[in-house]
Amino acid sequence: SKGTYEFYMLKEICEQPSVLRHLDQYYLDQNGDPKVDAKIISALSKADRLYIFAAGTSYHAGLVGKQLFEKLTMIPTEVGFASEAGYHFPMMSKHPFFIFLSQSGETADSRVVLQQAIKRSIPSLTLTNVPNSTLAREANYAMSLEAGPEIAVASTKAYTAQVAVQAIVAKALGEKLGNKDATAFDLKENFALAAEGIEQVISSQSKIEQLAQKYIIPSRNAFYIGRGIDYPVALEAALKLKEVSYIQTEGFAAAELKHGTISLIEKGTPVIALINDPITSDLMRGNIQEVIARGANVITIVRKSLAKANDDLVLPEVNYYLSPLVSVVAAQLFAYFAAKDKGLDVDKPRNLAKSVTVE
Ligand code: M6R
Repeated sequence: SKGTYEFYMLKEICEQPSVLRHLDQYYLDQNGDPKVDAKIISALSKADRLYIFAAGTSYHAGLVGKQLFEKLTMIPTEVGFASEAGYHFPMMSKHPFFIFLSQSGETADSRVVLQQAIKRSIPSLTLTNVPNSTLAREANYAMSLEAGPEIAVASTKAYTAQVAVQAIVAKALGEKLGNKDATAFDLKENFALAAEGIEQVISSQSKIEQLAQKYIIPSRNAFYIGRGIDYPVALEAALKLKEVSYIQTEGFAAAELKHGTISLIEKGTPVIALINDPITSDLMRGNIQEVIARGANVITIVRKSLAKANDDLVLPEVNYYLSPLVSVVAAQLFAYFAAKDKGLDVDKPRNLAKSVTVE
């Protein structure tokens, strides 16, 4: 039940710290080493390339996963829309391994790709929130996201669980392959930091609601911008906002705006900037000035070590590769309040179903 929450979406956003703490208990031992079925890691260790297939929010989690896998395992990793790969099969390396991300485990687009994998004897692993689902049963291996039932159509806690479980698999695989970055990556500490960080973001919800009311709700469109790990988060943040509030929102790699889309910025257009990447934070500040000069209302969401006095939301520090666990929550709350304060049915946006079982 929704308990005291007005909508499932808010309840599920608020459950994310406990999802991370549960994943720690479920998938990490006392030393923080992953407890992942040795057969899965052994099969993955034979791959020369990983291919992640998914749709929607799960695809966005895969884009973060790519960065985790490449950092921790050094195995080149590609991410594709299942709907495209099903009928235009990408060129394969010699030893591909497919990873399917799906909250429901029933997404038809992903099932088509899995059938192709089976036909070609390509080994596969499904990460899903529904252990007995079709994608879990039909893949060679499956792991549970352990996020608990997700009722709201807009996916929130399944995304954070997908990022976290990919980090667990990447660390286990990287350690098996002898990669030092994997051994040094402290998942236990970072899951704990991320859980606390999410709690802090949730405790700023009245500020987020005010910003949504002042800058986002009055506008018919909006942009999220980010670089590095913040780029896939910008895509997910934009999907969340448009999906539930019906405000047309696009996520952009920040520098790409000036290659065309900046012509859409007018007086009052909300641009929400995510800054978690130390390498590009100065460039992000420059991109922010470019849109301010065209009249945009900029909201900045910045990790503490990169924050300046006038930033709107300051996020607690978490390992760069896991920073999406925290930054996405601010975006989930912007989406939630934009929809709720417009009087919309937050949990059941128009035209959408929780699981998409048609191609
Ligand atoms: O169940 P799946 O993770 O396979 O679903 C994929 C997408 O349909 C899903 O993430 C969708 O994009 C969400 N409604 C987004 O909030």
